[in-house]
Amino acid sequence: MEAILLVGGQGTRLRPLTISTPKPLLPTAGVAFLAHQLARAHAAGVERIVFATSYRAEMFEAAFGPRAHGVDLVYVSESQPLGTGGAIRNAARALTCGPDDPVLILNGDILSGHDMRAQVKVHESAGAAVTLHLTEVDDPTRFGCVPTDGAGRVTAFLEKTSHPVTNQINAGCYVFRRSAIDTIAEDEVVSVERETFPALISSGAVVMGHVESGYWLDVGTPEAFVRGSCDLVLGKIDSPAMPGGPGERLTLAGSTVSPGAVVRGGTTVGRGAVVEAGATVIGSVLLDDAFVAEGATVRDSVLSRGARVGPGAVLDGVILGDGAVVGPGNELCCGLRVWPGIELPPTAVRFSTDA
Ligand code: GTP
Repeated sequence: MEAILLVGGQGTRLRPLTISTPKPLLPTAGVAFLAHQLARAHAAGVERIVFATSYRAEMFEAAFGPRAHGVDLVYVSESQPLGTGGAIRNAARALTCGPDDPVLILNGDILSGHDMRAQVKVHESAGAAVTLHLTEVDDPTRFGCVPTDGAGRVTAFLEKTSHPVTNQINAGCYVFRRSAIDTIAEDEVVSVERETFPALISSGAVVMGHVESGYWLDVGTPEAFVRGSCDLVLGKIDSPAMPGGPGERLTLAGSTVSPGAVVRGGTTVGRGAVVEAGATVIGSVLLDDAFVAEGATVRDSVLSRGARVGPGAVLDGVILGDGAVVGPGNELCCGLRVWPGIELPPTAVRFSTDA
């Protein structure tokens, strides 16, 4: 089976992490986020993937080349970002399958444990134009919702509302009949969620929902990105691409964790990163060459490449950009983001995003 992987977004919600690296290539549990998706797609029977690239397009081929994780890879770039629908239409030029064959469409920022083979089976037995993976969430008011009838057919694509009719939401993994992709306008900006799916439903095309509510996470926000990385390390979701078995922490080759440090909660410690004695790092992502000094505390945070946390400093829910430095004694919390190269001098001040 062939797949299209949507990886052209700018990842604005994850800045400053995405200034130098596109979201799908961010190191997540020791490997590029996409490695987990490629390995899972391969396990589901996908043999060839077309990458739909735009933002920092050249970095994808440099990272994965012509074949990775058992899958042949092809790269198609948009000169202007075409949105999710336009990107699918544009990338379909590189597909080789027949008009009735199923094509899997994956969003490059979803970590999902669902059974893709089962989704394809639903698609084929219904003879559907499109089959969406739907997941159930506790609070559907935060998402658009997707009701289905007794036979599993999608009846509507509804915008966010305070009174949702179902807790089923679009989980961002689709099976398209190859010929259904041709209904999307060529060389135009199109949103598959806002335009293509509602249009298919109102034209009477068969759009099916495959409801499966296992592990599912959209890693598009800093909190979710950290959560996803930690969940992979802790083994809450299996990935054939994991560089080690499940555990409280993943320490990559060349990292140094002092025996007097506490590092747990699914934390990854990158190559060349150092955690000194008396430091505590919980549920966090330390990229290559990050440094946590003695007595510092880091929780639910990301330290980008070469970022440094001084002695006794406290970080809780914070993103440090590449090479950012937090001087001794600072206390940072609550979604604060420090841009690459910024240095906070030694102090005893508490910085937060609270008013
Ligand atoms: P934010 O800017 O933080 O919203 O992130 P994003 O740019 O990744 O957007 P969003 O999360 O809505 O995108 C969902 C998926 O579609 C991601 O995998 C994106 O890489 C991808 N995507 C979004 N827009 C485009 C586009 O115009 N072209 C391509 N090729 N992919 C896109």
